[in-house]
Amino acid sequence: MSSRIKRSPHDFVFKEELGNGSYSRVYKAVDRSDPQRVYAVKVCSKRHIIHENKVKYVTIEKNTLNLLARANHPGIVKLHSTFHDEENLYFVLDFAAGGELLSLLNRVGKFTEPCARHFIAQLIDTTEFIHSQGVIHRDLKPENVLLHRDGRLMVTDFGTATNITKENTEGGASFVGTAEYVSPELLLYNQCQFASDVWALGCMLYQFIEGVPPFRGENELHTFEKIVALEYPWANNNKGGVVSLVRRILTLDPSQRPSLTSIKQDKWFEQVDWRNREALWKGIWQ
Ligand code: ADE
Repeated sequence: MSSRIKRSPHDFVFKEELGNGSYSRVYKAVDRSDPQRVYAVKVCSKRHIIHENKVKYVTIEKNTLNLLARANHPGIVKLHSTFHDEENLYFVLDFAAGGELLSLLNRVGKFTEPCARHFIAQLIDTTEFIHSQGVIHRDLKPENVLLHRDGRLMVTDFGTATNITKENTEGGASFVGTAEYVSPELLLYNQCQFASDVWALGCMLYQFIEGVPPFRGENELHTFEKIVALEYPWANNNKGGVVSLVRRILTLDPSQRPSLTSIKQDKWFEQVDWRNREALWKGIWQ
């Protein structure tokens, strides 16, 4: 949550770059007054934001993170404070020492079923919380999932999120997000709904098991064609329960796609006690 006293870049010692986007860079940063406190500081260039018409996205990200930070959910990267100087806007975020989930997945190739189940269960719990706040993330993918030091997953990058208010229940949308995880309803009808995040979770579960996302063409257009044709391969058909769960989730019609509540009751999650939050949120390295 934002601290009362506005901070400034001089309050931090900036270390290595952790990542970058089209208008921002994320740095590891240590609090000068307490070197035990390590953060990830997202630095957004004001000139770039204005030049590239991204003011809307940065505002959405700040408002959404502020809204979500209040509840202290373990699966969301927390926004500690924001400040600005002449050149930049600064977001002081939780530091995720384990980096992106995508890097871990690429290092190990695929996750075992128990590992995939544990990770996707955390992501389902987090997405349920995000949705309960009226927010659709719209760009869930392994690059936007970070690993905390203890191995639990934290969702980040709310720059393309949308808040479903009473006036805006349908969420008409233009393409935002990443080609491989984009939902068929966005491609076909320009619609974005809570179910579109569920689609992305289905793509991620597939990727955890198979190592690559289900829909991947030589270019974006080919990827989109595969999505609307529901054309994806299984390298190995021997995975019973998880195959049928992914098939259930990857339903073209969003009104027929299972809800998160129904997914949680799937046979593949039989061993998961969703009410046992301690077990659910146990990190893999704890
Ligand atoms: N890369 C992008 N955001 C990050 C964060 N909050 N912690 C660690 N690495 C990151």
